[in-house]
Amino acid sequence: MAVGIFDSGLGGLTVSDAVAKRLPDVPLVYLGDSANAPYGVRTPDDIYDLTTKATQRLFDAGCDLVILACNTASAAALRRMQEGWVPKDKRVLGVFVPLIEALTERQWGDNSPPREVDVKHVALFATPATVSSRAFQRELAFRAIGVDVEAQACGGVVDAIEDGDMILAEALVKSHVDALKRKMPKPDAAVLGCTHYPLMADAFQTALGPDVKLFSQAELVAESLADYLTRRPEMVGPGKEGGFLTTGDPEQVSSRATQFLRRQITFDAA
Ligand code: DGL
Repeated sequence: MAVGIFDSGLGGLTVSDAVAKRLPDVPLVYLGDSANAPYGVRTPDDIYDLTTKATQRLFDAGCDLVILACNTASAAALRRMQEGWVPKDKRVLGVFVPLIEALTERQWGDNSPPREVDVKHVALFATPATVSSRAFQRELAFRAIGVDVEAQACGGVVDAIEDGDMILAEALVKSHVDALKRKMPKPDAAVLGCTHYPLMADAFQTALGPDVKLFSQAELVAESLADYLTRRPEMVGPGKEGGFLTTGDPEQVSSRATQFLRRQITFDAA
């Protein structure tokens, strides 16, 4: 039994770490496509091709269920994959829905009409591809009315994190938050709509100020996966071994991952 977790690079580790804590008995196979990161500046077709290839690799590793722990892939490729590519006995899930359910205070599967919610002004920080897909606003509109969303495409942040240049990443976060505040001076909530960004959560919170509630996905996705597996236990696939796979240089990726998660992580070549 194994569940696959995919990201363009290291960001999905924030999700896999939370899932490992919540579901310690489920082996997780992580695949980071670091050779092709960042996805956030690619076209939807390109993101679709890379995401299906990586997901197939996780199916081949014995995973029947794959979580796209990547907002860019969830925004640009997931719907197309679910409509025409995912085999009948497999499932691929994204990371937007659990986040939007938390923001709109909904339980899983609550399909009641959209209604007013507490948060009125939401800042969305995400990659350029996620922002231009408008997938977040679309999912939100199914569940809530009267929420003003201002999206900020955070160019460069993923590259800086993948390169381990945290000083540059921090400076970019500050400048993206400043740009957002010029458009929306007082957001009530901020969504970290890229799984790399929780690695910079402190920088976002400092730049936004203490009154802005930060929503990030790791724990929300882990909780939602635990709930899904209670309802669909058969979706934990036949694979028995977890592990970390990368399309990049395993040594370099292992050292960055170890630095981020503050424990030894060893990647193998995908
Ligand atoms: N972690 C991915 C996301 O959640 C980053 C995408 C990228 O590679 O640009 O969007």
